[in-house]
Amino acid sequence: MEYFHQPVLVSEVIDFLNPRSNQNVIDATIGGGGHAETILKKTAPNGHLLGLDRDPRAITAASKNLKKFNSRVTLICDSYKNINKIINEQRSFIHYHHLLLDLGLSSAQVAPDEPRGFSFQSQEALDMRFGPQSDLTAEKIINQWKELDLINIFQNYGEERFARQIAKNIGLYRKDKPIKTAGDLVKLIMRVYGGKRGKIHPATKIFQALRIAVNDELNVLKSSLPEMLDILPVGGRMAVISYHSLEDRIVKFFFKEEAKDCLCPKEIPVCQCHHQAGLKILTKKVIKPSLSEIKENPRSRSAKLRVVEKIV
Ligand SMILES: C[S@@+](CC[C@H](N)C(=O)[O-])C[C@H]1O[C@@H](n2cnc3c(N)ncnc32)[C@H](O)[C@@H]1O
Repeated sequence: MEYFHQPVLVSEVIDFLNPRSNQNVIDATIGGGGHAETILKKTAPNGHLLGLDRDPRAITAASKNLKKFNSRVTLICDSYKNINKIINEQRSFIHYHHLLLDLGLSSAQVAPDEPRGFSFQSQEALDMRFGPQSDLTAEKIINQWKELDLINIFQNYGEERFARQIAKNIGLYRKDKPIKTAGDLVKLIMRVYGGKRGKIHPATKIFQALRIAVNDELNVLKSSLPEMLDILPVGGRMAVISYHSLEDRIVKFFFKEEAKDCLCPKEIPVCQCHHQAGLKILTKKVIKPSLSEIKENPRSRSAKLRVVEKIV
C-alpha cells in the first residue's frame, strides 16, 4: 500500500518559520516528511530534524523519503504529547530552534484502502487509532459507549446537528449485532440523513468526532502547546496548521493568551497575575491556502496556519 501525502502551505510555513542554515527543527507530526524535506534543504549542511508521528506507517514512509539526509534526521514513533520525555531521552544535547505541528490526518490515512477505517469510503474495521499505543478503538466507542456519551462526542467533537438521532439509531442497531466496519456506520448515518447529501458527505462529522475521541486529539493538543513553547529558545518559532475549527480555536486561544502581558479579568484594575507575554504572534491574520493550491490539492481547503515567535 503506497503512502502518499501532499504537504500543504509549504512555502508559507517556510517563509514564517524561516529555518536557516544549521538550525535544528522539530517536526512533531512528520507524516510522509513533505514539510521536513523542504526544512532540511533550508537548514543544510548540518541542521538536524527530529520527526515524530504516532503512526508507524508514517515513520516508515518518512524514513524512506528522507533517507538522503542521513544522520541529519531522527525519527521517533510516538505522540508529540511526550515531547519533553523524547528530547530528554535523546541525550544528544541538540537545541531545537523551531517547531512545526501539522495536525490531523495525512491523505494516506484517509485512503479507502487504509486498514484502520479512518475513511467513510472504507469497508475496513472501525479502528481509527493513529498508532497501536492505545486500546480504545472507534469500534469500542460505537458498540460499548452509552448513547448519551455518543451524543456528547458527536456534538462536541463533530458539531453534528443530528447527534441524537444518529446515536439512537446506533443504539437500536447494535442491540441485534455489533457495528463492525466503516461501511456499516455510514449506512446508519445515511438513514438519519434520508440519503440527502450536501457539499460534504453526511458521515464526515461523525467520523471526525470518533477520530478525535479515539486519539484524545484535543486534550493532547491543549496540554502539549505550552510544553512545545517551553522547549524553544527566545527567537524560536512555532508554526501550527489546523484543519477544523475545534483545533484552530485551541491554537488561537493559546497564542492570544500567551501574547498578553496580563491575564487578570477586566474588573481588576491593577494586575494581580503578573503574567508576562511569552510570544509574539507573527500571523496577524490566519494564513489560508491560495486558490491555486486548493485547486491543485482540494484537501488543503480547510487548512489554517498560525505562527508565533518566542520572546521570553
Ligand atoms: C497532516 S499529517 C502531516 C503531514 C506532514 N506534514 C507531511 O508533510 O507529510 C498529520 C500527521 O500527524 C500525525 N499525528 C496525529 N496526532 C499525532 C500525535 N499526537 N503525535 C504525533 N503525530 C500525530 C498523524 O499520524 C499524521 O501522520
